[in-house]
Amino acid sequence: MKQGINTINITLKVWRQKGHKDKGRFETIPVRDVETHMSFLEMLDVVNERLTLEGKEPIEFDNDCREGICGMCGAVVNGIAHGPEKGMTLCQLHMRKFSDGDTIAVEPWRARAFKVVKDLIVDRSSLDKIIQAGGFISMIAGGAPDANAIPIPQEIAEKAMDAAACIGCGACVAACPNASAMLFVGAKISQLALLPQGKPEAAKRALSMLREMDELGFGNCSNETECEAVCPKEISIANIALFNREFLKAGFGSSEK
Ligand code: FES
Repeated sequence: MKQGINTINITLKVWRQKGHKDKGRFETIPVRDVETHMSFLEMLDVVNERLTLEGKEPIEFDNDCREGICGMCGAVVNGIAHGPEKGMTLCQLHMRKFSDGDTIAVEPWRARAFKVVKDLIVDRSSLDKIIQAGGFISMIAGGAPDANAIPIPQEIAEKAMDAAACIGCGACVAACPNASAMLFVGAKISQLALLPQGKPEAAKRALSMLREMDELGFGNCSNETECEAVCPKEISIANIALFNREFLKAGFGSSEK
């Protein structure tokens, strides 16, 4: 232990995979003197420095803001997407949550629609494609003064804001036994469909996004609720119910089936 700094020794079992055609395997890496104030990603930085100095390939992992905002980070830690802490991204997880002697398994999101790029990095562009299929408003909604001129009940505004908290990290897909993206799509549909500007296209939007989700290989929702349990923004599965309502309306009311 360094003077005044708590350190632990851990064993990492980390997934190494060269690309999506490679079979991949777990590599065991003992890591000594991990400072407990470090974030999980800082611990991986330290491991990577050591691997580089030893002439080995560093562990590839996605990250950007490291503040729980951007949705770039993510890995399954000991079987849980984003790790053991509720309502938290991997970049917000700290090593003080682990104990000396722990073995920590780290793997990428596993889903048919997310191909492994390398090690812990997966291609999540399928989520972008779902948004491109309908996750927007195509009418001219006006500027901020116009939006502010439309009275919206506080309760509705808050529900829309809660749905808009989704950072598109994909943890919901990784946690779902069916690798469904229904929580992601539900949140993206709700944040628009709840507000007056998003209502005119709500049914068409639900249909388009669901079609795209199916085509991209995401599974169906069977109400496992694992998605809600791991969501770092604690998005409610009530958004899936709203999505289903919009989808039913689209099925009954739209000529575009
Ligand atoms: S790196 Fe941005 S949310 Fe984790």
